[in-house]
Amino acid sequence: MKRRPTPASTAWALLVAFSAWPGSACIEVIAHRGASGYLSEHTLAAYALGYGQGAHWIEPDVVLTADGVPIALHDTTLNRTTNVAETFASRAREDGLHYAADFAYAEISQLRVVEARPGRYPYATFRVPTLADVLELVQGLNRTTGRRVGIYPELKSPATQPALAAKTLQVLEGADLPVYLQSFDAEALAALDTDLPRIQLVDENDRMADAALDAMAEYAVGIGAFKGMLFRDPSLAARAQMRGLAVHAYTLRADQIGSAFDSLESEVAALAALGVDALFTDHPNRVISALGNTACPVGAPSRG
Ligand code: G3P
Ligand code: CA
Repeated sequence: MKRRPTPASTAWALLVAFSAWPGSACIEVIAHRGASGYLSEHTLAAYALGYGQGAHWIEPDVVLTADGVPIALHDTTLNRTTNVAETFASRAREDGLHYAADFAYAEISQLRVVEARPGRYPYATFRVPTLADVLELVQGLNRTTGRRVGIYPELKSPATQPALAAKTLQVLEGADLPVYLQSFDAEALAALDTDLPRIQLVDENDRMADAALDAMAEYAVGIGAFKGMLFRDPSLAARAQMRGLAVHAYTLRADQIGSAFDSLESEVAALAALGVDALFTDHPNRVISALGNTACPVGAPSRG
């Protein structure tokens, strides 16, 4: 049965219909932790599926192992997304958690990735990849498809992993594809010794006054903003773009739609109306389809 539009979704539809377009001519789609709505997050399978669905960017989060290998993992601990507790039961710290920093990659490579979100991929099929594996996958697919998809690594907790930035940059050195580097840690992001373009992540607690945006524009080419911030402050996207900062919004999920919306499509339309330049999503195919002609062409050379 078709759901009746709520007052909120009707208001957003009107906004879409009548607003000017302050952002880019088209919107890019970032496969968030891969196409993680379909296959477990941060696995080569999820990244390949995101690529196949037409994402413009593949997003690995990055942490370091004990032997200094950058791996694709969201948390600094392995418990939420792997079977580490049963494989290495005695290796937990006092808090009961298993930290990636306590394991060599040869050990982590023995683990199976388990799905952390209810209702998603049901099996423990996949392994934890290195950042180098992810780079090779996307570069290889670019070679075989003729596309130019980028990777968009996030430095996770760089303050507690002093070697993370340098080790990540070492892997990315000489990469033949577009790259964005992102982090919530402004100090670490600003200090990176690289010409690669940077995206400053901001969360709902960050104050986004003009002065803060001015400071970010000194070292970053864009902001990655929690989508709720953009709805709460509809001037934010335009204020960032006036300073030359692209606006990327996180995270759209078909199985966790924002409470003001009755469908993923209406949420996508509302963000598009605000003028965002790119969208992080666990479901790239659904977001690309919702964007229609507003989505950037698949695999076209990217800005990054
Ligand atoms: O990097 C953008 C978005 O992914 C930030 O949140 O927690 O999913 O890494 P998180
Ligand atoms: Ca991330």
